[in-house]
Amino acid sequence: MAVDYNAISQIYDNVRAENKSIVDLFIEEVKITNRTRILDFGCGTGNYANMLQRLTRAKVYGIEPSDGMREKAIAKNVNITVVKGDHKNIPFEDSYFDFVYMTDVIHHIPDIEMMFKEIGRVLKSGGSLCIATQSHEQIDNRFYVKYFPSTAIVDKRRYPDIDEIISKAQGQSFEHIKNAIIGEGVEVAVTADFVKLVKNKGFSMFHLISDDEYNVGLKQLEADVLTGSLELKTSGETLIWLKKK
Ligand SMILES: C[S@@+](CC[C@H](N)C(=O)[O-])C[C@H]1O[C@@H](n2cnc3c(N)ncnc32)[C@H](O)[C@@H]1O
Repeated sequence: MAVDYNAISQIYDNVRAENKSIVDLFIEEVKITNRTRILDFGCGTGNYANMLQRLTRAKVYGIEPSDGMREKAIAKNVNITVVKGDHKNIPFEDSYFDFVYMTDVIHHIPDIEMMFKEIGRVLKSGGSLCIATQSHEQIDNRFYVKYFPSTAIVDKRRYPDIDEIISKAQGQSFEHIKNAIIGEGVEVAVTADFVKLVKNKGFSMFHLISDDEYNVGLKQLEADVLTGSLELKTSGETLIWLKKK
């Protein structure tokens, strides 16, 4: 079953937001001025592009294949430019961008080599590419795997692991700079908000498991949140930093 982002776009911003630590890291790692051209690849509803533009006043662009997601992004900030595009077609001229990033997108890309080729075309030589994703180990460590065990299986099938991403990038004009792990092992309370996110299927993998597993897991999760018996440590994210040769 494919993930329908036009349907998800209607609830995405109720249940998902940008992670400010990621935006802060972009600003720390990349020299950004108001003339820097930045591309948010698979920008969704524009949460990251919006925050980055407001904090830096840079020229921020987004490409996004889903009409529904794109409309939300366009409505969010008139100072970002959001257009239709995907891993096969980024409608900008060669060497246009200084910095390209993608957050929670790589597991949706059917042909990663083609994506690196196309991003490599629009990124200037010496420009940075940052891929924010989760490693297979981080997927296994998600606290809700205990409620929805198949989500880890489904997602390890969908998500390329870190080494695979790096080696495919190296095959397509990119040099690997470093990996940064963020937000791993942080203790947080699981609140009604998280239950709401699961109920709204705010993560695409909830659309990819059986109804039975989803309903049983949700019931148990709700019960545990109610009794306050849920201890959560975040599983974190990996940011892969690459440079265009
Ligand atoms: C989980 S959402 C992440 C959205 C946004 N980057 C964020 O972090 O809020 C994944 C996004 O990837 C987009 N996407 C799916 N296939 C894509 C492709 N082939 N090329 C570019 N983006 C794609 C989806 O439409 C969706 O908006």
